[in-house]
Amino acid sequence: MKELLLVLLVTEVSARSNNTRCRLGCDCRRDLRFTICSRANLTHPPSGVPPSTELLDLSDNFISIIPKKVFSKNRKLRILLLQNNNIRVVEDGGFSQMEFLQKLDLSWNRISTLTEGFSIGLTFLQELQLSHNQLANLDSRCFFHLDGLQKLNLTNNSIHAVQMRSFSSMSSLRQLHLQDNQLTSLRSGTFSMLRSLEVLNLAGNQISDMDLSVFSPLTSMTVLNLAHNQLSTVTFKTFLSIHAYSTHIQLQGNPWNCDCDLHRVFRKLRSIQRLFLDDYSNLTCMEPPVLRNDLLMDVDSELCIAETVTVLIITITVVITVLAAMLMGERKKKKRRKGLHWTQQGDFSDDSDF
Ligand SMILES: *[C@@H]1O[C@H](CO)[C@@H](O)[C@H](O)[C@H]1NC(C)=O
Ligand SMILES: *[C@@H]1O[C@H](CO)[C@@H](O)[C@H](O)[C@H]1NC(C)=O
Ligand SMILES: *[C@@H]1O[C@H](CO)[C@@H](O)[C@H](O)[C@H]1NC(C)=O
Ligand SMILES: *[C@@H]1O[C@H](CO)[C@@H](O)[C@H](O)[C@H]1NC(C)=O
Ligand SMILES: *[C@@H]1O[C@H](CO)[C@@H](O)[C@H](O)[C@H]1NC(C)=O
Repeated sequence: MKELLLVLLVTEVSARSNNTRCRLGCDCRRDLRFTICSRANLTHPPSGVPPSTELLDLSDNFISIIPKKVFSKNRKLRILLLQNNNIRVVEDGGFSQMEFLQKLDLSWNRISTLTEGFSIGLTFLQELQLSHNQLANLDSRCFFHLDGLQKLNLTNNSIHAVQMRSFSSMSSLRQLHLQDNQLTSLRSGTFSMLRSLEVLNLAGNQISDMDLSVFSPLTSMTVLNLAHNQLSTVTFKTFLSIHAYSTHIQLQGNPWNCDCDLHRVFRKLRSIQRLFLDDYSNLTCMEPPVLRNDLLMDVDSELCIAETVTVLIITITVVITVLAAMLMGERKKKKRRKGLHWTQQGDFSDDSDF
């Protein structure tokens, strides 16, 4: 009886596998809930994907356009894999009506712009992979409908500008990966509203300048990666304003200007209990030239010596000047007294010179 059931089941599955709908280089599995069309030389998203499909794998093909509503017959999709294609254009509404979609992978494509129409219908998306594309400027509304997004991966694009409100609709976002882009500065307001953000990865950009309050809205942040940027100095308040319970900060691979100010900033930062400078022992100096490639940790105690010496010299100079002035004054007084004495002796009545 059991065996019969099994045979029936196998027949049923293979009959469905031979379904004409699954012949376009695709492979339908497990009662048609998985449709695998990877490496099938597709130049367009295939039509006729079974409507019951929950996972559609279109990776490693030659798809160049995502036309409007192309997946509208696949409203049960939970996972859509489109990595490693030639996608340049996502038409407005390309992913509309996909209210069950949780994960969308568009990495390793050629997307250079995204508009508001891109995110329409992706209200329940949790993970969006966009690494290795050609995005340069993030429009303020391109992620507007991604209310439920938890993970956004923008690694290795060419992003040099982020419009002020680009991330502000994503109040559920927990991970934002922006490493290996072209950011040069971080303006306050860029990360506002990201109350749930736990991981902010900004490694491998060109950041040299950060506004004092840029991280202050990030009250859940546990990891802030700023390694391999162009920071030569930081302001204490920039990190002091992170009010998360505990935050690990990575800062290696920056061209630190090892002076007394930097020494003071790091001394204060290391004394704050909720901040962890994980790679402090790996920070190296770029300036001044005599300290180039030295570990900050090794030269740390000497950085304020020059300053102390300068202060000492200034103090001594001031003291000497004051003493000299007093001495001169004293001498003049004496002279005056002597002169007075002499004029009195010489019977001169005019003392107007004094
Ligand atoms: C499905 O197709 C394969 C070859 O493509 C064939 O060998 C098999 O008999 C077919 N199964 C059914 C149930 O038609
Ligand atoms: C895809 O195209 C290549 C080269 O044209 C060919 O060798 C390969 O068999 C094709 N793959 C499929 C699944 O059609
Ligand atoms: C982000 O994308 C990069 C490159 O594709 C990948 O190596 C990395 O694992 C991704 N990170 C996450 C957290 O998804
Ligand atoms: C990331 O992009 C840069 C160009 O911006 C390139 O040089 C680098 O090799 C890329 N990294 C990876 C892992 O592909
Ligand atoms: C410090 O640098 C070394 C060598 O690059 C690396 O192996 C180590 O993991 C780094 N330490 C930290 C805390 O990042």
